[in-house]
Amino acid sequence: MSNTQEIIELAVIEVAKARTLEALAAVRVKYLGKKGILTHRLKGLGKLSPAERPEAGRLINLAKNEIDDTIQRQKIVLENEQLDAELTRAHIDITLPGRGSSIGSVHPISSTMSMIERLFGRWGFEVCDGPEVEDDYHNFEALNIPSHHPARAMHDTFYFGDGRLLRTHTSPVQVRVMESREPPLRVIAPGRVYRCDYDQTHSPMFHQVEGLLIDTQVTMADLKGVLETFLREFFDENDLAMRFRPSYFPFTEPSAEVDIKLESEHGVSDWLEVLGCGMVHPKVLSNVGIDATHYKGFAFGLGVERLAMLRFGVADLRVFFENDLQFLRQF
Ligand code: DAH
Repeated sequence: MSNTQEIIELAVIEVAKARTLEALAAVRVKYLGKKGILTHRLKGLGKLSPAERPEAGRLINLAKNEIDDTIQRQKIVLENEQLDAELTRAHIDITLPGRGSSIGSVHPISSTMSMIERLFGRWGFEVCDGPEVEDDYHNFEALNIPSHHPARAMHDTFYFGDGRLLRTHTSPVQVRVMESREPPLRVIAPGRVYRCDYDQTHSPMFHQVEGLLIDTQVTMADLKGVLETFLREFFDENDLAMRFRPSYFPFTEPSAEVDIKLESEHGVSDWLEVLGCGMVHPKVLSNVGIDATHYKGFAFGLGVERLAMLRFGVADLRVFFENDLQFLRQF
């Protein structure tokens, strides 16, 4: 094999015969590899006379380039053939419609909580939180519910047996806020609470939003004004029927529960209780070291599930926690 032209012709035939990428790689090694025919030729240039060397070198390099181009072209052909073969084997039906993706939505309880936060936020209430695993002092004692108090029985508490418990309401956050900050205070505390209870209107875990306002000149009329405005805006009913019914909570005095009447396509509902409230008990204030002769305050606690049930017309509270997509997609 003396002529580089012959080498090119042979290489072109071999490239055309290479039907796989592996065979093609072997051809490249044979001609262009470290010990390949053309490399060998280049190394042999030294044996030629100085006059012959430049032309011989030029021809070898031309041959190298041409063979390399041929191999590249063949490589593309083989890669395309391989891809076609794979696509045929994989039976991809590109005419099938796509799977699509569905957009999630905010859970009705979360959206109710954000709405409550937004409304109170507008009136300057700041969002606070506290631990869900509470101690007896913050959940009961500091709220004027000593251990012998009958109100404890109403709470169906989950106890850990070491003085800790799952908070039964968000009211302990009131205590924590008053302990750590100076009045005036205007906060709401949304969060999970726990009670050992389960039926159509009770779930062992549910949500409350606590409200607390402490200042020097606070009256029951302020409490009424804030809650009435809140409920009218929440239910988007300007002439919402409401009543403040006298009630009892150990941590407020006087205390009230608020009932509303809702209109539906079937007429007007009976009175429905939506929240508890009252003026912060002087004992609670003194427990956290606030001077009850100088400061007064009001507090309220509302059940988020109860409000969400009324807002969305849901009859069984438990569906909020079943994560049934058919139910959740409606929101
Ligand atoms: N913590 C009470 C409960 O879970 C609700 C409540 C009533 C909270 C009156 C308050 C309040 O802040 O003033 O039943």
